[in-house]
Amino acid sequence: MSLPKINPTKTEAWKRLSSHFGKTKDVLMQDQFVADLNRADELRIVWNDFYVDYSKNRISKETLSLLSELAAEVGLKDAIDAQFSGERINETEDRAVGHTELRNFKAMKPEVSETLQKIQSFTQKVISGDWKGHTGKAITHIVNIGIGGSDLGPDMVCDALAYYKNHLDVRFVSNVDGDHVMESLKGLDRESTLFIIVSKTFTTQETLTNAQTIRKWFLEKANEDAIAKHFVAVSTNLDAVSSFGIASENIFPMWNWVGGRFSLWSAVGLSIACAVGYDNFESLLKGAHEMDLHFKEIPFESNIPVTLALISVWYNNFYKAESECVVPYSQYLSKLVAYLQQGIMESNGKGVDRNGDTIDYETGTIVWGSTGTNAQHAFFQLIHQGTKLIPTDFIAFKKSLYGQEDHQNKLLANCVAQTEALMQGTYGSEVENNFKVFSGNRPTNTILINRLTPKSLGSLIAMYEHKLFVQGIVWNIFSYDQWGVELGKKLAKGTLNAIESQDLKDVKNSSTRNLISRIK
Ligand code: F6P
Repeated sequence: MSLPKINPTKTEAWKRLSSHFGKTKDVLMQDQFVADLNRADELRIVWNDFYVDYSKNRISKETLSLLSELAAEVGLKDAIDAQFSGERINETEDRAVGHTELRNFKAMKPEVSETLQKIQSFTQKVISGDWKGHTGKAITHIVNIGIGGSDLGPDMVCDALAYYKNHLDVRFVSNVDGDHVMESLKGLDRESTLFIIVSKTFTTQETLTNAQTIRKWFLEKANEDAIAKHFVAVSTNLDAVSSFGIASENIFPMWNWVGGRFSLWSAVGLSIACAVGYDNFESLLKGAHEMDLHFKEIPFESNIPVTLALISVWYNNFYKAESECVVPYSQYLSKLVAYLQQGIMESNGKGVDRNGDTIDYETGTIVWGSTGTNAQHAFFQLIHQGTKLIPTDFIAFKKSLYGQEDHQNKLLANCVAQTEALMQGTYGSEVENNFKVFSGNRPTNTILINRLTPKSLGSLIAMYEHKLFVQGIVWNIFSYDQWGVELGKKLAKGTLNAIESQDLKDVKNSSTRNLISRIK
């Protein structure tokens, strides 16, 4: 079964939403809260240790029910079933989309459980010190070499779960910037460092260049036999990994039915399992699986990813909001936004629909943000008083991990105060002058979670994965391909040749030619 291919703007629900928008677009949330004193009790979802408050949005129950009709009309239920049943819904690459299968312990493919066992026994050896480097030293440092999905997820999770980390120092090298590579190698003892090369395709220029440079650096003080004790790889491309010189027992497989940006649940997460131990890695997967079940089974009106996705569509397509901000009130989640940017924008930044036709409505939102309270002292001015509508997700944890109550109360007080200020503004109060007016009526979701644990983090990440999928279905696009990154990669081969040879005859564009001639 392939995905439905329905232009959302041609549906009955869209027509009704347009007319509803015309009638309600100027309704103020401030008035809605006064008119319905139970609004916050009605527009929220309580699930596991998540409390999702979406009452501070420019919506009514009618908006939500029309959005639900839209979801039904574009075939969302069938699309969800198609994904979970392993259909090849990534049609342009002719692949299934199976990241949820990586965390479904009850119905796991044998190759997935074998790989998890391999991750478990490998990480135990590394963490316990049983895995020795070529001179007999235990491993103390790990360097993950990868980019995009082979970097952002593991890097983000390792930081997010820093509280649960063991003694291993885990670093990430991604950019082909040689200065970054050399800075990352600074202070490393070759004899106690393990390098994990992660590349689904094992053809990515950045990763292969970095891996070669690091291999050369390593071999300055060791011979080829030592590679087996210090280099492992994660890839689908087993031949290319072997040609790099990595022994077959040091290769962790992955599969083309797992998209790069959804792959942290696979052996791509090996660095996570090393950093926090296999049990915590498994809890992360289990937390994601619980969100999968919620997403798959719960009716749309109380389904967290579906609700957040539809509200986002409402702003994107009717209010024409161009971007969305994500602000976690936890410094542990400082890399979440960068991770979500790949997940969301590589997935839904598409201008051609599932029929292959050019789209004449808005698709993928721009995602940006930073941690609170830092963001309050940086860009919140624009969200409060700027001319743009920027729906914002506030993510917070009820309990801190170290129990610093004074800090935690202040952190959460700020989080709540901001959503209140954005919603209420100075509406209804006397203000000295126009510069001090806050219009309010600025939308937010608050995702309040009990505690930052591997399990709750897994659920949170899966929540955003499913949200972006729902949006892709509504927008009638293929969320799981990424053709938009290919042209730049191809052209970079030509520009590299031109830079190295300074032969500019094939460089047609005058700007490009001038730039290249000034390099070197
Ligand atoms: O930049 C595109 C992309 O293909 C991403 O989707 C992917 O996560 C990244 O490159 C890395 O690819 P690989 O894991 O094959 O090196």
